[in-house]
Amino acid sequence: MQTNVSIDLFSEIQKLKKQKNAIILAHYYQEPDIQDAADFIGDSLGLSQQAAKTKADIIVFAGVHFMAETAKILSPQKKVLLPDVNAGCSLADACPADKFAAFKKKYPGHIVITYVNCSAEIKALSDIICTSSNAQKIVETLPKDQKIIFAPDKNLGKYIQQQTGRKMVLWDGSCMVHEIFSLKKIIQLKEKHPSAKFIAHPECETRILELADYIGSTTGLLNYTKKDPAKEFIVATETGIIYQMQKVSPDKTFIPAPPDNSCACNDCPHMKLNTLEKLYTCLRDEKPEIILDNSLIERAVKPIRRMLEISEKLGL
Ligand code: 13P
Ligand code: SF4
Repeated sequence: MQTNVSIDLFSEIQKLKKQKNAIILAHYYQEPDIQDAADFIGDSLGLSQQAAKTKADIIVFAGVHFMAETAKILSPQKKVLLPDVNAGCSLADACPADKFAAFKKKYPGHIVITYVNCSAEIKALSDIICTSSNAQKIVETLPKDQKIIFAPDKNLGKYIQQQTGRKMVLWDGSCMVHEIFSLKKIIQLKEKHPSAKFIAHPECETRILELADYIGSTTGLLNYTKKDPAKEFIVATETGIIYQMQKVSPDKTFIPAPPDNSCACNDCPHMKLNTLEKLYTCLRDEKPEIILDNSLIERAVKPIRRMLEISEKLGL
């Protein structure tokens, strides 16, 4: 996808990376040019594992704010940059720290498992962080009688409840991108493409997930399309992942699941705030930089480390 206009930016970015001993980590929802410029592209778990182990001095995080924050919490001695500081997340915003602290108080004796899509303050109020690729396994490591609060994504929470048979107290948050899919249009599309597999991210609503042949994190979805013999896939998640799917399986067709209206609403407006040009200027000027209070880092790192330790033990 390297366009003529951006060719200089690609080589400038490579030069700067070398000079500054920097690494570019990009989420699958980033625009294709950014994915091409990245050293590592991944889902939230893969990206935090990379952020924890990199030897680079600078991490440029092409993703959204909570992801860059997580990298900073895991590697506080490194400079962590985010190409557009306004790249937020509707799910993280749906869980303000003061309201969550009050909610937690209502459920004494509950362990707090929190999806990584939340602010550093929420992480500091949590016992274990999870991502969509390890949430189910993390819940399954807990004793059967352990009471659980799961936040902030109610759709992922409902899916984990259904998979594990465990009742959890759910925070009422959701992702604006994954709640946009039209059940009716997906059914019509499946009828039009009867041999297509329908695959979905667990942030989608239950009624959408019920139709899916496979449910998984972005990495899970990508791997499924690599291995499955089907030639067509209807994909219910942010459209950025389709670039990698198509790259890895050029002979297969990927159809974005249709939203409820006519706009391109399954593009995450936050993720798409980052551009190749912003990636370049951010590496050149070393800003915007993620700055966090040390005491917040000390509190927030514990539940993230717990997630990484459990994931390592489970071979995730
Ligand atoms: P994963 O990449 O972990 O599947 O998460 C998707 C997402 O919504 C990130 O914002
Ligand atoms: Fe947040 Fe949804 Fe965008 Fe992911 S896709 S960053 S959960 S708003």
